[in-house]
Amino acid sequence: MDIIDEKEINLRLKNKLNIKIFDEISSTNTYLKENPSSDKDVIIANMQTKGRGRIGKSFYSPLGSGIYMSIILKNKFEKEKLSLITPLAAVCMCKAIENTLNIDTNIKWVNDIFVKGKKVCGILTESSIDYNTGLSNYVIIGVGINVYKPKNGFTSDIKDSATYLLEKEQNGIKNEIIASFFNNLFGYINFENDFFDEYKKRCFILGKKIGVIKNGKEINAIAKDLNKDFNLLVQYDDKSEEFLSSGEISIKINR
Ligand code: BTN
Repeated sequence: MDIIDEKEINLRLKNKLNIKIFDEISSTNTYLKENPSSDKDVIIANMQTKGRGRIGKSFYSPLGSGIYMSIILKNKFEKEKLSLITPLAAVCMCKAIENTLNIDTNIKWVNDIFVKGKKVCGILTESSIDYNTGLSNYVIIGVGINVYKPKNGFTSDIKDSATYLLEKEQNGIKNEIIASFFNNLFGYINFENDFFDEYKKRCFILGKKIGVIKNGKEINAIAKDLNKDFNLLVQYDDKSEEFLSSGEISIKINR
């Protein structure tokens, strides 16, 4: 059995964290949003009943097959830095998967991690801003990773687009992935080390035909480039170009 264990995680962490593990929870992000003053830095669950994704989507979080976790950071980030946190977390999780399992990963702008063309991990960053200072009160980074195949498979809406990391259960792998992710995160979160190239080299949509989905409408485009603020430069069929910021936009890969 691959059991998530606080001691095993902290043993591997350079900066120790106050972790609480739930067998079942509605959503680890929601827990921290509702309890921002909790003494826990990290909430991890073996199952979520209301796992949330970006833009009001849900995140399928069945028992035992994945890692569903959130960390609350109480740093006072400026607005410009806040928009970098999701791409930063994506790089940290790619490196954690690559270093722990030697599996190649790619990123679908802005927050999805792919393995062999299918999604294995999603990231949802939420924050509270102090409107007087413009700085964050806190940021919650939520990460969901499909480590093993769900017992009943994926739900019909994602069965063609989702995948998992490992066929066979390996003791302790979840703890290693979790610890590696947090060690990576704390290595980058002061924004002293550039991670743009690490993101861009994994961003497999560049040069590809995509659908830009905005307010429920899909527009054909080509993903052309990424700027240093992680805005995606797209060219539409009429040759007009636009930089997209991730906000309420999602993209679809058109093959
Ligand atoms: C996405 O795919 O759009 C993002 C998915 C993020 C899922 C994780 S699982 C842990 C944390 N709690 C949630 O409710 N969501 C995030």
